[in-house]
Amino acid sequence: MRLGTPLSPSSVKVMLLGCGELGKEVAIELQRLGCEVIGVDRYANAPAMQVAHRSHVIQMTDAAALRAVIAAEQPHLIVPEIEAIATDELVRIEAEGLATVIPTARAAQLTMNREGIRRLAAEDLGLPTSPYAFASSEAELAKAAAEVAGFPCFVKPVMSSSGKGQSYVEAPEGIASAWRYALEGGRVEQPRVIVEGRIAFDYEITQLTVRHRTADGGIATAFCAPIGHRQVKGDYVESWQPQAMSPAALAAARDIAGKVTEALGGVGLFGVELFVKGDQVWFSEVSPRPHDTGLVTLATQTYSEFALHARAILGLPVDATQREPGASAVIYGGMEAEGVAFEGVAEALSVPGADLRLFGKPEAFERRRMGVALARAADTDEARRLAKAAADKVRVVRGG
Ligand SMILES: Nc1ncnc2c1ncn2[C@@H]1O[C@H](COP(=O)(O)OP(=O)(O)OP(=O)(O)O)[C@@H](O)[C@H]1O
Ligand SMILES: [Mg+2]
Repeated sequence: MRLGTPLSPSSVKVMLLGCGELGKEVAIELQRLGCEVIGVDRYANAPAMQVAHRSHVIQMTDAAALRAVIAAEQPHLIVPEIEAIATDELVRIEAEGLATVIPTARAAQLTMNREGIRRLAAEDLGLPTSPYAFASSEAELAKAAAEVAGFPCFVKPVMSSSGKGQSYVEAPEGIASAWRYALEGGRVEQPRVIVEGRIAFDYEITQLTVRHRTADGGIATAFCAPIGHRQVKGDYVESWQPQAMSPAALAAARDIAGKVTEALGGVGLFGVELFVKGDQVWFSEVSPRPHDTGLVTLATQTYSEFALHARAILGLPVDATQREPGASAVIYGGMEAEGVAFEGVAEALSVPGADLRLFGKPEAFERRRMGVALARAADTDEARRLAKAAADKVRVVRGG
C-alpha cells in the first residue's frame, strides 16, 4: 500500500470502528504515517475521535448504519477496535471488495462470539483450553456445569466483554443466579452462555502476536515479550512486561498464539490470552486487535502494540522487541460525572520513570477506565510499584 497525503486523492483512508483509548493510540500512530483517519463510535467525542480527521456517531451493531457510513467514506482499511459490531455486514462488505477488514472480517466475526473462537481453537485447532460447554437455558447450564465444566466454574454470556454478565460459580446452588446475571450482561436477545471449568493457573499472560508482511510479499509472525496482568471482575487493573516464564511455557505460548492467529488470518496485531501453570499453557481467548493489558508497551517497547498494529495493517515492517521492563496501572473514574478534571498529575509525573495517558473520555463512571499510569524500571516488581504509585496520585474530580 502506497502512503499518501490525507484529505487528498492519494490518501490512505482508515476507518476505526470503536474510538476508545486503544483506538486513540492506533489513530495517533496512523496519523504519524500520514493516513486519513475516520473515527466511528456510538457516542460523540470518544477518545480516538479527538485525534481523527473526522468522525461519525452510529450504532455499530446496526448493519444498515454501518454499511451507510462505509459507503459514504469509502475507507481502504476498516479497523475494528471493539467486539460489538455488525460483523456479518463486515463479512459482506469485505466479500464485495469495498474495503479490507483488519485482520479479516471472519476474524472479527469469530471473536465477537465466544462460541466461534472457542470451537475454532479447541475443536478445529486442537489447542488446550478449559473444559467447556454451551447452554441456552438454565436447565442446560446446570447440566453442562455438572457434567462438563465441574465446580468451580465460570459462566459467561457468549457475546460480552470486560467481564460483563460473567460469574464465578463455586457450587450448583450458584447456577440460577449466574444464569440471571448472564442474561442481564449479554448483548443479544437469545440468551446463550459458555460454562468453563476453572483453570487453577499460576499466572495469566497476554501474548501480543503480530502478523505482518515480509519483503517477498509473504506473511510472518512476530511475538512481543509476554505480558503478565492482574484481573478484577474481568477487568485488568495492572499489567507488566516481561512476565517471567519457563522456556517450555514460553515456547508453548508462542506455539498456541502462532496457530490461532494463523487460523484467523490477515495482518495486524493480536492479543492472545493464555493461562499458565508450570510448563502447561491453556488458550483462553484472543482479540484480533491491540489489547488493553498491552498499554504497558507504551513504556517498554520501541514500537508500542499500537505502532505495531498500524505498521502491520499498512503492510510495513515491524520490530516487536522489548526495550526495558515496565508496568501499567489503571486509573478509574471513581464517580459518575461529565467533563471530569484530574488532580495530582504533577505529583504522578514526579514518580521516577513514570508516564501517564489521560484518555479524554467525556463521561466518567465508577469503574470506567479514564487513564493509565505507566512506569519503566530495572525490573517488573519495581515498575509495578512505581506505576501503582503514579496511578494513586491521580485524583479524578468534578470539572467545571
Ligand atoms: N476458565 C477459567 N479459569 C480460570 N480463570 C478464568 C477462566 N475464565 C476466565 N477467568 C478469569 O477471568 C478473566 C476474564 O475472563 P475472560 O477474558 O474470558 O472475560 P472477558 O469478559 O472477555 O474479559 P476481557 O474482555 O477483559 O478480556 C480472565 O482473564 C481470568 O482471570
Ligand atoms: Mg479476556
